[in-house]
Amino acid sequence: GVIGKDGYRHYMEKELHEHPLVIGQTLQRMIDPATRKVVLPDMPCDIGSIRRCVITACGSAFYAGMVGRYWLEEIARLPVDIDVASELRYRDPPLEAGSLGLLISQSGETADTLAALRSLRNVGLPVLSILNAEHSTMARESDAVLGTVAGPEISVASTKAFTAQLTVLACLTIGVARARGVLGDAQEEELVSALLDLPSRAAEIFSFGEDIRAMASVVAEARDVLYLGRGSAYPVAMEGALKLKEISYIHAEAYAAGEMKHGPISLIDKTVPIVATIPSGALFEKTLSNLQEAKARGGRLLAFTDERSVHRLNAIAERTIALPHVHPFVTPIIQTIAVQILAYETALLKGTDVDQPRNLAKSVTVE
Ligand code: G6P
Repeated sequence: GVIGKDGYRHYMEKELHEHPLVIGQTLQRMIDPATRKVVLPDMPCDIGSIRRCVITACGSAFYAGMVGRYWLEEIARLPVDIDVASELRYRDPPLEAGSLGLLISQSGETADTLAALRSLRNVGLPVLSILNAEHSTMARESDAVLGTVAGPEISVASTKAFTAQLTVLACLTIGVARARGVLGDAQEEELVSALLDLPSRAAEIFSFGEDIRAMASVVAEARDVLYLGRGSAYPVAMEGALKLKEISYIHAEAYAAGEMKHGPISLIDKTVPIVATIPSGALFEKTLSNLQEAKARGGRLLAFTDERSVHRLNAIAERTIALPHVHPFVTPIIQTIAVQILAYETALLKGTDVDQPRNLAKSVTVE
């Protein structure tokens, strides 16, 4: 039947509010409530013995894959290659036997991702796909599928499907790490708890509406916006910048915060707001010092951090959002929701067609 907006102004707003539900549903499918262990059904190969993972996707799904790379490398100690599908399909890279292809797509129909899937399978790699549309072309052509339980996503700009992809990638990381013998029971329990905590923590983000709207009023005045993050918060910055470009038509670039000094620092002045997604773990201090450099050059800092660290930002940031404190493993999921809301609120101020931005399609089935 026809899916309504349930009283929300846009499908995007409705889908943003579905984040907690969707994360919960996806976790229910991947974590056994009795044992609190990740269950990975239908793996296309022995995941304990894969030697490398080749991730590919387009758009937001690619940024989900980038977060997945940080997790799979750091926690599962698995080497990861990642490239956008439109490059991978023509790059003809030497792919080692023992590699696993990992595809990420909401629609399961994106032409470039499908072509990349076929090229990986043609050279004999098993392909595991993380898909929202479980009856799609990619679902049929993959060796195995992990479903994101996000339900239909109508808004062209992806929101809930993206966080569901992150949720699946987080569970996959735990499963692969265990299979590779690099994750002890206690650490697994710690990571699973962090995930199970997410739906209620994600719901808390909606109480920051006023603060995020105030931030959006700064962003909406800008012609260019710089997003900065480090570690797994770097792809979150990329997702935030993409979302802003897509629906508000404001130019935004994401940079790894440590790379700012090699270029974008020359752009910084009071007309270019800096949106920082600040990691809560070991990279907090490093990111802070990058932001101090930006501040010293007149940058207007808009910072997403957590309730425990926010006092460290007050002196340098014009606006801060103190998101719920969660385990550093799942911080990118919480921050993603916040930067997506920022893009939405900015688009509202700009008066754009949020659900149907110009020149974009929900599913790009042509090359
Ligand atoms: C389009 C959409 C994006 C999406 C991308 C990949 O560009 O506008 O929101 O991230 O396609 O789509 P997929 O269905 O493969 O995830």
